[in-house]
Amino acid sequence: MGRKIALTGIKPTGTPHLGNYLGAIKPALKLARDYEARYFIADYHSLNSIKDSRQLRDYTHEIAACWLACGLDPSKTLIYRQSDVPETFELTTMLMAFTPKGLMNRAHAYKAQVDMNREKSKPDDHNINMGLYTYPVLMAADILLFDTNYVPVGKDQVQHIEMAIDIAQAVNRNYKAPLLTEPEAFISETSQIIPGMDGRKMSKSYGNTIPLFAPEKKLKKLCNKIITNSQTMEEPKDPEACNVFRLYKLFATSREQADLAARYRAGGMGWGEAKAELFRVMNAQISPMRGRYEELMADTSRIDRILKEGGERARILASGKIRELRRVMGFQKT
Ligand code: TRP
Repeated sequence: MGRKIALTGIKPTGTPHLGNYLGAIKPALKLARDYEARYFIADYHSLNSIKDSRQLRDYTHEIAACWLACGLDPSKTLIYRQSDVPETFELTTMLMAFTPKGLMNRAHAYKAQVDMNREKSKPDDHNINMGLYTYPVLMAADILLFDTNYVPVGKDQVQHIEMAIDIAQAVNRNYKAPLLTEPEAFISETSQIIPGMDGRKMSKSYGNTIPLFAPEKKLKKLCNKIITNSQTMEEPKDPEACNVFRLYKLFATSREQADLAARYRAGGMGWGEAKAELFRVMNAQISPMRGRYEELMADTSRIDRILKEGGERARILASGKIRELRRVMGFQKT
């Protein structure tokens, strides 16, 4: 038996931030040691919101450079652009015929947009394109195309995986054959919520992100801007109630955490000191990766070559599945 397959995608909709790294990239790279990993850039998913070609291209390079800088080894882990694997889109069309419209009505991302429209007294369908509405079908195709066993994702994506399972079952039931492998969401402990600068979940939509590869000076500045309460220097402080400390825990050793917690509780330490300590541990972990990232971004032709090779390998894996489905569905003579 071959190794189990882990697959995940990241949408290129923004510059990679700490939340992406800690919540998605780092745990996925850990998983890549034990499974056959396939990690891709979900650029067609981005098209739903990003209509500027240059921006889409830049974000794609940034996400790819980020995976590579954080340690993805393209000779071991398949990395590719979704748009380089057209089999994905043929499978999407096939799956459409097995996807109840009612299932899509229940998708969180779509419902969130409807709720927002209602809040602003706009029509329900305002700003909703079919790409957003059918988003879970494309995502199911990404997953089902490769007989994926595990999908490392954050909690917000679990519903999409459940939909992929529903759709796979509908196909398998109809043709009375296990054509599509049912995936399982893989939620690692680190997919805990990563706090942003204001303490809410770090997210592009809240504007509270810290870019993973901000230059050192900028990173220091951002650390200093993290929101804290207005306690004075002398007052003893509660580390567990502090955004700075919550981020610190994600980078510091347990020894460092215990030391800083003690300084919080003792009083006499100002927020500036805690923030400087946060910057120190963060920067120590990020700076080697930042160096590799900057090198990759300085000449994107290397990234393009890696993605192209990955795409070619992915197509070889995908074409067998499409051939089989075409035959079973009656598109080709047996
Ligand atoms: N929807 C995912 C997100 O927003 C990205 C994604 C697209 C994905 N296709 C996927 C994740 C397939 C896992 C598997 O984060």
